[in-house]
Amino acid sequence: MDGNALIGILYYTFMYYLPAMTANATPVFIRRGRPIDARKTFVDGRRILGDGKTYEGFIVGTYFGITVILAYVIIAGTISYFYWGIPSVIGALLGDMLGSFIKRRLDIPRGGKAFLLDQLDFFFGATIGIIIGGVLLDIYVILCGLIIIVALHVITNRIAYELKLKDVPW
Ligand code: CTP
Ligand code: MG
Repeated sequence: MDGNALIGILYYTFMYYLPAMTANATPVFIRRGRPIDARKTFVDGRRILGDGKTYEGFIVGTYFGITVILAYVIIAGTISYFYWGIPSVIGALLGDMLGSFIKRRLDIPRGGKAFLLDQLDFFFGATIGIIIGGVLLDIYVILCGLIIIVALHVITNRIAYELKLKDVPW
């Protein structure tokens, strides 16, 4: 693979996943909201989703994710970005909810660690959303996104640990 091909893959990875990454990252500012599961428990007696998935968070994530797509639309002068962008944002937020659903079934509390599931739940949903939106994503773009997202989490958690913002380096 030549350098130009690699730059192309990196470019498309950021272009396609930035709205979803934004939608996934912005709800953290919601400290307390109305839980989507209405505090109900599942058949196993544990919470369906838990207090970490709120309506307010969903709305904030959707808002900022769509803001990124709107920037693309304005820069490029075509609304076609909305077709895959909106499903990617909604997909990211639904994927994140599915991740919480799985964590609760595994008896992992809200905020408890689930390596790879925590990082990739939204990515999985976003990828499906982009494809539903009509984009035939290149497999290298998907793999590149996977690596970048896991690497970003490892690096930022390490920095937060070194700065003593976190107790553990993961
Ligand atoms: N958040 C929210 N609503 C959402 C998604 C996220 O309010 N739909 C907020 C919550 O405050 C959540 C924070 O963003 O605590 C970080 O999201 P995430 O890491 O996905 O949640 P966790 O607290 O780790 O909970 P879980 O164990 O269910 O993943
Ligand atoms: Mg989490």
